[in-house]
Amino acid sequence: MPFVRIVVAPLSGFPDGERRIVNVGGRSIGVFRVGSHFYGIRNRCPHQGGPLCLGHVLGDAVADAPGSARISSDPLRIACPWHGWEYDLDSGQSFMGPASPGVRSYGAGVEPGASLLEDATARPEMRVPGPYVAETFEVTIEDEYVVLHT
Ligand code: FES
Repeated sequence: MPFVRIVVAPLSGFPDGERRIVNVGGRSIGVFRVGSHFYGIRNRCPHQGGPLCLGHVLGDAVADAPGSARISSDPLRIACPWHGWEYDLDSGQSFMGPASPGVRSYGAGVEPGASLLEDATARPEMRVPGPYVAETFEVTIEDEYVVLHT
């Protein structure tokens, strides 16, 4: 299956701590921003089909010394809002025992708009010209965009 990049949002409109849920070919996928990192994960819990990407993102409570507890951002997990099953936000690994399946995860990151324009013009051999020609206009893309890799 060919590698497909899906534009999710302009980077400037996707602040830290936010998530977006997109529909890609009938699949609902959540894209999360945590600091400068982006994660993509299927929005369907393997347990009973709950909307996984509506759940809380969690880290481990760690302490380097007594009285210095903090929440670690590595690894991050997402907890399904229906029954609380947890999955690694990066890999989709389940943490509910060896018999519980993981969830599909996807790459996500930031790419310059110019590289997305290259995608739109790539593989011209896949196109067969028809008899009609529509009016066209020059379009430029100058910002950076959050992109989901499926
Ligand atoms: S459907 Fe997600 S934990 Fe049950």
